[in-house]
Amino acid sequence: MTQSLTLRRPDDWHLHLRDGAMLQGVLPESARHFARAIIMPNLVPPVVTAADAAAYRDRILAALPEGAGFTPLMTLYLTEETDPEDLAAAHASGLITAVKLYPAGATTNSASGVRDFDKVRGVLEKMAEIGCPLCVHGEVTDPEIDIFDREAVFIDRVLDPVRRATPGLRVVMEHLTTADGVAYVQAHDRDLAATITTHHLIINRNHILVGGIKPHYYCLPVAKRENHRLALVGAATGGDARFFLGTDSAPHTDANKQSACGCAGCFTATNTMSCLAEVFEREGALDRLEGFASLHGPAFYRLPPNEERITLVKGAPVHYPAKILTGAGPVTLFDPGFPLHWRVAE
Ligand code: DOR
Ligand code: ZN
Repeated sequence: MTQSLTLRRPDDWHLHLRDGAMLQGVLPESARHFARAIIMPNLVPPVVTAADAAAYRDRILAALPEGAGFTPLMTLYLTEETDPEDLAAAHASGLITAVKLYPAGATTNSASGVRDFDKVRGVLEKMAEIGCPLCVHGEVTDPEIDIFDREAVFIDRVLDPVRRATPGLRVVMEHLTTADGVAYVQAHDRDLAATITTHHLIINRNHILVGGIKPHYYCLPVAKRENHRLALVGAATGGDARFFLGTDSAPHTDANKQSACGCAGCFTATNTMSCLAEVFEREGALDRLEGFASLHGPAFYRLPPNEERITLVKGAPVHYPAKILTGAGPVTLFDPGFPLHWRVAE
């Protein structure tokens, strides 16, 4: 018996598209299933001004396949020099949808991020005033803090104090990886939401380290213990509108991943909908997939949900290519480690 599931076309509320040949290679993978995506600004150099965002948006639009109806929702990279007026004008004109906070040194291309939160107080107050969401990479960078504890410590040391000091600031905790993060979001019913990635719903830290190191499972924040993965699955499949999909699909070439100092990032753009359907089906929550992938995100961002529908069909195992070939080099696709039976009908 064929099973099928029709839902509003999903959006990706956290996506890395890169630039140049990599952008050209990976953009069709997101545009195939997703209508919109929040585009991360951690290019080299980063997207820091409205002019940078406009130019990057033009490059993305120019790289879109013929006829693709995909809208990039642009972000600015918050630095200690960000001009609140430039930001406010970019938000008012619709050029940017959000601003991204990377603590300096937290992850790929985050050197220009924030070191001293007092220096961005004025910008955050302006964002609260105009209702511009702050997307947060929630990890402390203190070398004393164990990498597996960096999200939980960030909540106490940085996120909670910043939110208290800036009433009305709308925050998205990006790529949540811990039960602590889930609990923090659940404890607040205003101005706070979180994205969850596909891969953090599927892998825990054993998948990265047991039986040999798996560079294609290494990302930041790094996957945690199984109890944390289970908390994320509960949050994603539980129907709570504060949690929605942000794949954090983050392509790096195989040469850069399979290296003595490999880059962080899992590339999931191509098979995310198949992976998610499998995860939600196992939880008996297929009826909640549309909320997670297509409804909760637009509701938080105060945008209408997509009118178009996609249909997922269940059948024999679906095979995806192991790698996407881009002009920058091959990029390995995330392997969920179990067969995928759901595909998006073309
Ligand atoms: O795994 C990750 N990759 N985490 C991030 O925060 C950044 C991203 C990237 O840009 O490669
Ligand atoms: Zn990211």
